[in-house]
Amino acid sequence: MAILVTGGAGYIGSHTVVELQNEGYEVVVIDNLVNSSKEAIRRVETITGKPVKFYEGDISDAELLDTIFKEETIDSCIHFAGLKAVGESISKPLEYYSNNISGSLILFDAMRRNNVKNIIFSSSATVYGDPAFVPITEDCPLGEITNPYGQTKAMLEQILTDIYKSDNTWNVILLRYFNPIGAHSSGTIGENPNGIPNNLMPYITQVAVGKLEKLGVFGDDYNTPDGTCIRDYIHVVDLAQGHVKSVAKLKENPGLKIYNLGTGKGSSVLDVVHTFIEASGVDIPYVIKSRRTGDVPVNYCDATKAKEELNWIAKKNLFDMCADSWRWQKNNPNGMI
Ligand code: NAD
Ligand code: UD1
Repeated sequence: MAILVTGGAGYIGSHTVVELQNEGYEVVVIDNLVNSSKEAIRRVETITGKPVKFYEGDISDAELLDTIFKEETIDSCIHFAGLKAVGESISKPLEYYSNNISGSLILFDAMRRNNVKNIIFSSSATVYGDPAFVPITEDCPLGEITNPYGQTKAMLEQILTDIYKSDNTWNVILLRYFNPIGAHSSGTIGENPNGIPNNLMPYITQVAVGKLEKLGVFGDDYNTPDGTCIRDYIHVVDLAQGHVKSVAKLKENPGLKIYNLGTGKGSSVLDVVHTFIEASGVDIPYVIKSRRTGDVPVNYCDATKAKEELNWIAKKNLFDMCADSWRWQKNNPNGMI
């Protein structure tokens, strides 16, 4: 039996395909390559030494999905495919709701039609908004979300919950990722943002490689030890292994489950900058800028539930994450071309 991985050519998807193949799972990928390239699939195959069955196409193509379900023996789906840029989602809400919501509805309907009712969904810590408490447990109330991207995550969590409630033969695992950074230790796959990066680590690595002049640190007047925001950075390979453990969980017919995937440890923006300098040996010039609208001051998780129920913990520390992000960027200054 195979796992259908939507968005499997993307950043987290490609790392997850590696870990799944390493564990002996058969994987089928569908990706429309809107934010990735086929080269990622080729590199995954080089890392694992195994072929990846790849369908280039869109999750909103119901006919293609039916073909895949007929030709492959799929028993579960890991659903990564989606648009993910917060700022862009504010200027292009229709595109985000259409791609992420309509596309997912077509996928879920095709799954139901083909009697594949096991799904793992890429959600985000963004659903907690400015969290009611830290460390954030899965019981923390959902917060106010300030952008359409985040809304699509909360809506898809609700849609999958309603699907499960209507038909208990579904197994639905909602994974709330904290801040994924890092790259595979081979340095051959990693995050490849289009244009000027919005997220912290790709911005730092592009400064390090000389593509950007200096980092802007968004605010140093928060109520935190060094005044900069705190996040729970998690190595993408740890995150990928969290999916492998979730696939194993699906076999127990768990019903509906929600897990935080993070390290449980908070790091400030300046912690990341200093650790990156230490890991890379490259200086990162920075200036303090004003706060970024929508940023929450402190966000890190309690990952106990994933440890107890998935038998999963994040093993890599911030130094590993920085060293691996740097290796990827240094080897691929222009991304995956
Ligand atoms: P990514 O953009 O690298 O990967 C997403 C992949 O989906 C890309 O390869 C893209 O080409 C593909 N895709 C998009 N729309 C599609 C469609 N309609 N049909 C087929 N393929 C489509 O992003 P990522 O960082 O790997 O994120 C993967 C998932 O995890 C996304 O759903 C994202 O929202 C979620 N997530 C990411 C983060 C993060 O920090 N990277 C945090 C929380 C949640
Ligand atoms: C952001 C999104 C979140 C999304 C996540 C993963 C916002 C407000 N939130 O989370 O919804 O799920 O990415 O894609 O966009 N920083 C700087 N300088 C920079 C970039 C970032 O100081 O050039 C700071 C930010 O203020 C923040 C921290 O670094 O404190 C991390 O930022 P980022 O990597 O963008 O992640 P989040 O904001 O946590």
